[in-house]
Amino acid sequence: MKLGVIAAMKIEAEIIIAKMTDKKTESLGGIEYTTGKIGDCTVICSVCGIGKVFAGMCAQGMIIGFSPDYIINTGVAGTLDSSLSIGDIAVSSAVVQHDMDTSGIGDPPGLISGINMIEMPASEFLGSLITDIAKKRGIKCVTGIIASGDQFIADGNAKKRIKKSFGAVACEMEGGAVGQVCTVNKVPFVVIRAISDDADSGAVEDYPSFAKKSAEISADITVKIAEELLLHDNPENQKLSL
Ligand code: ADE
Repeated sequence: MKLGVIAAMKIEAEIIIAKMTDKKTESLGGIEYTTGKIGDCTVICSVCGIGKVFAGMCAQGMIIGFSPDYIINTGVAGTLDSSLSIGDIAVSSAVVQHDMDTSGIGDPPGLISGINMIEMPASEFLGSLITDIAKKRGIKCVTGIIASGDQFIADGNAKKRIKKSFGAVACEMEGGAVGQVCTVNKVPFVVIRAISDDADSGAVEDYPSFAKKSAEISADITVKIAEELLLHDNPENQKLSL
């Protein structure tokens, strides 16, 4: 079982890399991939850099170079949902790219030509693992659409537009690209994000104050998934643990 983990920033990945044993780091296409073990699970963890292009490059390199069974994109996000506050978790039912826009030639906003999709569905299995772990830890967790774009959202109008156009619960800058690459390559994925800010005018102060703490909440849950994945991935064990 191989679990790929992609984070945009070092603060979103360092807890995960610290937990890995038998570590080896390789560079592929200008991106570093650290492989190792968490329990019996082989983990490939990478800090891809900020934005959709780096995230897409990283996911494709990871798939070609390391053949992960699943990919998790972990990190922080701005909230678009009044029930999600700083430190709470958003889990993707699907991802969208809110800045993909060919509406000028008649397409609906967010449509990704070629695959002809707006929403790219995430793994329900990984999503349910995250929901269970969060519940056991008493962390509020909302499953919904996570919207990505190459913009830090810190403005009420932009926030409203993304929420209204896509029904999204959180916004960030990489999950939609990881989701697109995984969809094309048929690799199950999920995006888990802990809320760091309100994606409105408060984000300017909230983000620097809460990004590290929130990044660690999401990374901690990702470590737990690696620890539990083998157990849950076996259908017999799934039955036993119910
Ligand atoms: N990541 C964390 N907060 C964000 C925001 N407000 N916009 C985009 N990406 C984010």
